Amino acid sequence: MSDAPILSGVNLVTDLDQVTDFERKHTPYVAIDAIGEKVRVTIEVGHYVAHPNQADHFIDWIELYADDAPIARFDLSPVATDPAVSIVITLDAGTVVRAVQHCNLHGLWAAEVTL
Ligand SMILES: [Fe+2]
Repeated sequence: MSDAPILSGVNLVTDLDQVTDFERKHTPYVAIDAIGEKVRVTIEVGHYVAHPNQADHFIDWIELYADDAPIARFDLSPVATDPAVSIVITLDAGTVVRAVQHCNLHGLWAAEVTL
């Protein structure tokens, strides 16, 4: 994949061993930690390779889905906020947790984890 802007579709990265640094810097990192009956979902963009966080190039939002249901959305400002969010939710085993992020220059990127 080139560094050209991606203008449509969601880039779902499933194998980080088979992608470029450009793809790694846009792929959401998803961590899930059990907290009693609930889970803490942490989503970070730039975990694998740092993504720019400048006024003209930044992650402007992150969304979380459980299977196909929207669960949470975080709108981010450049420079002041790191693209790293965390939320405690209740999910059933087997749920597919999908994180989707939007880079203002390079479009939509997603990653999935199954509980
Ligand atoms: Fe980007």
